[in-house]
This record gives sequence, structure tokens and C-alpha cells, in this order.
Amino acid sequence: MCGIVGYIGDDQATPILLTGLEKLEYRGYDSAGVAVYNGTHLQVAKTKGRLKVLEELIHNGVDVPGTVGIGHTRWATHGAPSNVNAHPQVSGSGKFAVVHNGIIENYISLKEFLIEKGAKFVSETDTEVVAQLLEYYYEGSVIDALIKVLNRIEGAYALGIICEDDPEHLYAVRKDSPLIIGLGNGENYIASDVPAILNRTREINRLEENEIAVLSRQGVEVYNTNKERIPKKAEHIDWDISAAEKGGYEHFMAKEIMEQPKAIRDTVKPRIKEGKIVLDDVKLTKKQLEEFDRIFIVACGTAYHVGVVAKYIMEKHLRKPVEVDVASEFRYRTPLIDDKTLVLVISQSGETADTLAALRESKKLGARTISIVNVVGSSIANESDDVLYTWAGPEIAVASTKAYSTQLAMIYMLTIYMGDLLGTIDAVHYQYYINELKALPEKVQQILEQKSKIQYLASREFNSKNVFFIGRNLDYAMSLEGSLKLKEISYIHSEAYAAGELKHGPISLIEDGTLVIALATQNILFDKLMSNVKEVKARGAVVWGLTIEANKERIKKEQVDYEFCVPQACDMMLPSLAVIPLQLFAYYVASLKGCDIDKPRNLAKSVTVE
Ligand code: G6P
Repeated sequence: MCGIVGYIGDDQATPILLTGLEKLEYRGYDSAGVAVYNGTHLQVAKTKGRLKVLEELIHNGVDVPGTVGIGHTRWATHGAPSNVNAHPQVSGSGKFAVVHNGIIENYISLKEFLIEKGAKFVSETDTEVVAQLLEYYYEGSVIDALIKVLNRIEGAYALGIICEDDPEHLYAVRKDSPLIIGLGNGENYIASDVPAILNRTREINRLEENEIAVLSRQGVEVYNTNKERIPKKAEHIDWDISAAEKGGYEHFMAKEIMEQPKAIRDTVKPRIKEGKIVLDDVKLTKKQLEEFDRIFIVACGTAYHVGVVAKYIMEKHLRKPVEVDVASEFRYRTPLIDDKTLVLVISQSGETADTLAALRESKKLGARTISIVNVVGSSIANESDDVLYTWAGPEIAVASTKAYSTQLAMIYMLTIYMGDLLGTIDAVHYQYYINELKALPEKVQQILEQKSKIQYLASREFNSKNVFFIGRNLDYAMSLEGSLKLKEISYIHSEAYAAGELKHGPISLIEDGTLVIALATQNILFDKLMSNVKEVKARGAVVWGLTIEANKERIKKEQVDYEFCVPQACDMMLPSLAVIPLQLFAYYVASLKGCDIDKPRNLAKSVTVE
């Protein structure tokens, strides 16, 4: 999704904006631009396409001089990717320049209002309305105009604003879209995300909803919409800068796949103390837990697939009904939720618009909410009753891998923890599961060490036009994720099916050479799955069978075309192992096809609009 960077200081702004925007490229975008105060007026340069097109256009910033400016990478929502729709958007006279992440939902009525007042619009964007509205309300004070604008606009926004009449300040405000303030020495910044400014400062402020930041060279003042000062405490970011760099890998995705043993270990280890799972962050009592009559899991994309795994696991081990839904459906379907419902929200970024809305809806209906989030201090983390952080570190590639693995680990821990409290997991199993948890990182490592086998398989099948993933129970949940990974980054059409549903439709699509990836890690369903393998083989499919080592000989007898075995683990945790070859397969196929792996077309890392 869109990326915002802003700078005010004594250095040249444009190179800083361009470097910052580069660090936000992972969010996904289709055009880019900057606006800088050049001593007399606001100079804007923007273009459709990648940042390097913009860099060439303005000779890496030489053509846009000045020490206060805003920059943007746009992911089109209102209006196609084009030069004119790119941000910054400016007001009619060119006095205001605005960069925006989010959607102004009532922009049409505001646009009509402004046109009636004589404004002329040049773009199709909702953002231009903000720039024009600022000019309409401006009577010499930018903050006063901005407060009036905030009273009129509805929707989600992170805004960066500069004004030709007030070049000593940079303004920022946010609601439902992320934005941070970077605090420097004689210079200050705004950014959509920490990596954009990490090479300049490690001290940040987080803005709450509708807080207005006024940045000057000397400092940052934050106000509410009544113009009252809000004191802010700086937060120190202590990530290793290399965590947000490729570290010798060709792609972030490859690096992040390989980092999974560490990410799982970092998430699990601090929470196992003296043989017990300790979730300090969850303040639920045994009584409260017993009183919940159902659990809802809500998320989007890959995080939703964690939810599907969680449904199988939690229902089995907690003996409570568990429903899982994608957030965009959940929020509009009047779900049966009250104070006896536990809602579990899963999100890597903690900023996904639909997931955040679903969380708010659940709270409104009285549910208790727990979130599993990777980004510390994000909106979802802040607004849920309890938060369990995954310690995956920054995930840059659009296709999620290590965040997924840590979310799964969190689900296992939460299930074991709750099962113990509820008495649905006995002491023997409790101990067994804890040992299995501890062993996970090493088993994931063993699979990663066999990556060349998957690379070979990819080299044989990367020309596939259609791929089907089939599985039952947890293997079905894994099929969903395997299929998503493949289609996201390699653009191969793929579908995941509950294997038992094959005969109800998709089998008609199997023809000579169609690749079917059959997941059979769940021992109890192995034979059932093999019946499905026979059915697709009889119709010409090429089959990759994925199972556990104990079933190596059994799967060979089925005469699958390729097989891959993951180490033995308890059933509950096998998804953490099965997903690794699927991630690797998607990665190698995309690489062989020459795809833009870290920034697949049309996709964004953090979907902060509905
Ligand atoms: C986008 C990303 C996915 C991610 C999903 C949910 O679609 O490309 O990788 O799974 O959003 O994001 P979240 O940050 O809420 O986990």
C-alpha cells in the first residue's frame, strides 16, 4: 500500500525522501512522487512506474532542491496509476501539497461541494479533495484549516502536508492508517513505517487517531483536534538495521524463508519457563475461559490461513466451537458475538484495514479480544484487550513466510496454554507438546537444508499452467497456504481443495500433465488421501506427494511422481513443517519464471484500505 516519507531539516530533502521511499517499496506501489519547498514555491515531481523512473526524471533529486518535503509511493485505489493521479496532490493554487495513504470515503460529496465553490480538479483521486479543502479553509493558519478538514473528511488516512506560506513546518495526521514521526537532531521526519527512516534516526513517536503533528527543524509538537497539546514519549527502535536488508540473499523472501527457525525460536523460547507456557500478555482467568461459549478467529490473507489451521487445532483440543472468517466478510455479516465470545485476531502488520475494523466491531459487540501481531505498537496491537507478539522481525517480502510460521507457533502455544487451564489437555500431553514445540526450529532447519530437492522439482514443473493443492483436515489448511504462495508470486493459477471435494467439481479440470500437490502429513487420513491421488493419477495428473518420513515407503508405493518427506512431529504442529517445502516451491518457481518475487504485481504488503 502507499508509502509516505517526509523530511524537514538542513539537508537536501529529495535524496532523503527517495531513500526512504525505497525502503517502503515492499509495501507495493505503482507510481511515485515528491513535493519540496524550493525557497519560493512548492515544486512537485511525480510519475507512474517504479521509483527509479522518478529518480531518473529528477536526476536523483538534483532537479528538486530544498530542505522540507514530502514523498509518496502510490498504490492505486481511486483512479488508475498515472502521472496525474500520483501523489503529491496539490491544491488549485499550488499552495498546498498532500500525500495520503488510505481512502477518503466521502470524497465525492466533498468534491461536488468544492466544484460548486469554484475548485478545478485535475486528478481522479480522493486525495486531491484534501488538498483543495485545505486551501478552501485556509485563512493564514495551516493547523486551523487542517482541523476544519478533519471535521469534514470520513474514512482512513495518513496525511503528510506542506504549505508554501509556511515552509518552516511539515504537518501530519492519521486515522486508521499507519504513520510514525521520526525524531532527529535539528531535523524531523514522517514515515509510513520504521524502515524508511531507520538510517537517519531510531527515536520515534507514534501518532494516535486524529492527532496532528507539527514538525519543525527544532522539534515536533502534537495536538488534538481541539488544538490542545498532547505530550508524547519517544520510543527507541532497537532493531538491527540489517534485519530490514537482504543480507546477501537475492530476495527478501528467500532470506525470510531461511530465517524461520530463528523466528520460531524467538517467538517460543521466551514463553517457556520451567517447563510451562507463560503468556504474560494474556490476562484471562480459568473462569473467564470456561465461560466463553465460542471462539471466533478473524484475519486476512496468509494470516487467515493460520486461522484455518487454528480452527482445526483449537476445536480438537479445547472442545469449544471455533469459527474462522476472513475479516472483510466477518465485518459485514452481523456475526453472533457477545460477551461470551473470545475473538482472536491475527495480523502480521497490525494495520490491515478489514482486520482492524473486525476487531473494533467485535469489541463493540462485547467480545473479549486477543490479537496475534508482529508489529509492535500497531493499531490492532494497541486496540485489542490482550496482544501476543510474534517475534518474526521485520517481514519485507509481500508474500508472508516467517510471520506465518510464528503465528502458527503462537496458535500452538495459546492452544496448549488454554487446554491446560480448561483441563482438556492432560499433564502428559502438555509436557509432550512443550517438547515438540521446542524441537520445531530444528526440524524446520532440517527441511530447509533439503531445499535443493524442491528446487529440482520446481525446475521440472515451473511451466505448469494450473496447479491443484489437495489435503484433508490440517493438510487442507496447508493446501490453502501453499496455493496462495504459488499464485501470489509466480502468477500460476492454482487452487486448494479439500481432497474429499475433488469429485464435486475440480476433478473435471484434471488433464494430462496437470500438477497436483497432495498433502498427506496427517497419518490418520493418509489412506483416504491416497484414494484421491489414485483418482487424479487415473486422469493424467502429475502428483507431488508430501508426507512424513514414516510414510516414505507407503507414498512411494502409490507411484507418485515426486515425493518429499518432512520429519515426524505431533499432528498439531505438522503444518509448521509442511509449509516449508510449499514456500520453497513457490519461491523457486517464481524465480525460474523471472518474477518480481518480493513485489508481486498488484499486491501490497500491508492492505490499509478496505
Ligand atoms: C496482504 C499481504 C499478505 C498478508 C495479508 C494480511 O495481502 O500481501 O501477505 O497475509 O495482507 O496482512 P496482515 O498484515 O494483516 O497479516
